[in-house]
Amino acid sequence: MQHNMFLTWPEEYQLPEHPLPILVQLGLTYRCNLTCQHCYALYRRSRDEFSLAEIDDLADQLYRAGSASLVYSHGENMIRRDFHEAAAIFRDRDFYQTLMLNGFYVRTAADAARLVETGINRTMVSIDSIDPHVHDKVRGKKGAFEVAVKALRLLKDAGIPAVGFSTTIDTHNYSDIERIAEFARDLGVDAVSFMQNRYNLTGVFDRSLWPTYLQVCQNLYQLMLDYQGTLDVYTHDPFMLTVLDDRLSDRTAREAFIGSNLCNVGTGMVSIDPVGNVSGCNFIEESIGNVREEPFQQIWDRLVDRYSDRSDPPTGPCGSCSALGPCMGGCKAFHYNGKYDERCGAQRFIDPEPHELATADRPIPETAPTRSPGVFVGLPRMRVGGATQ
Ligand SMILES: C[S@@+](CC[C@H](N)C(=O)[O-])C[C@H]1O[C@@H](n2cnc3c(N)ncnc32)[C@H](O)[C@@H]1O
Ligand code: SF4
Ligand code: SF4
Repeated sequence: MQHNMFLTWPEEYQLPEHPLPILVQLGLTYRCNLTCQHCYALYRRSRDEFSLAEIDDLADQLYRAGSASLVYSHGENMIRRDFHEAAAIFRDRDFYQTLMLNGFYVRTAADAARLVETGINRTMVSIDSIDPHVHDKVRGKKGAFEVAVKALRLLKDAGIPAVGFSTTIDTHNYSDIERIAEFARDLGVDAVSFMQNRYNLTGVFDRSLWPTYLQVCQNLYQLMLDYQGTLDVYTHDPFMLTVLDDRLSDRTAREAFIGSNLCNVGTGMVSIDPVGNVSGCNFIEESIGNVREEPFQQIWDRLVDRYSDRSDPPTGPCGSCSALGPCMGGCKAFHYNGKYDERCGAQRFIDPEPHELATADRPIPETAPTRSPGVFVGLPRMRVGGATQ
């Protein structure tokens, strides 16, 4: 294992002096027709959601702040009757719009065609397993798999510029990842995304799973190489940057892999929930401010300051870790919730024992980050002729 190879970062990932909130994860509603086992938003179902007038004002503020790409997340956004009007507001300001959806509100060709008219550039349907029973169980609804696959086909046929599906991965589907990618290839979609479950609870990661997860990381990287040029295989977890091996020799693939696995918090991404709370990422519960109470730019500046690796390096068990320089704490969702990344253990950082939390007697040593800040802006690397659409 070679940690040092990550100390030099590709120039493409350098950021401007002051980071811009290029990618916005936006929720227009917390409402949802499903109750998925892993959903981070399940217990935040506030109903006091943005009006269209507020969305219009927010779109202006984001445009002025330099935002260019939007991912609809949090709840099931199409449940809002005025979803298309809201999306048209962003379309008219040239935002690249990605809709994440469970498929229940795309039942007909007309539903899919309407999304094209509304300016949705990319759709990512959630499919958690290719076994319909497992998907339905995770999603809490019988028939959910069939609905999701049908929606995927309708969206593709309607001509949405980029169509793919997202799979949240965990023990129930680690061993199916290759078959899920084959399923994506057979459906003829553009992309498949594998997102490790971000736990909303502490103490749920079983350390004995470490060798399995190590293998999963390596398989994912191998899949990305195998499908290069035919299917975009996305994965996103800074944790993976510390566990890859010598196969990262292909420069293009390596740079794409590094770029898509950096933590974007405080560098090029922001999350805004349906009631105005601004946070570093959907998976971070800490709110930095509310756009209903103060201008977005002011909150963004505070957020950048809050999550700056240089002024505020990761603490807790990461403080004494030999790999902190390139990793900078991995997925921040595991730190700023008052937790640490539970997948981190002895084999990851060579140290013989898992890290302990810092105490008053054993303070955290001063650590300066050794990596440049990076960003994955969420814009697609589409396969058509190798060019970006
Ligand atoms: C919150 S949902 C909102 C959009 C839509 N309702 C859907 O299911 O696609 C967006 C994506 O986040 C995923 N997700 C939810 N909770 C997660 C968690 N704790 N860790 C990783 N992914 C999660 C979902 O599976 C889904 O693919
Ligand atoms: S469908 Fe999406 S928003 Fe609804 S519970 Fe599932 S993951 Fe959460
Ligand atoms: S906290 Fe960072 S690494 Fe974790 S999911 Fe959010 S952007 Fe990705």
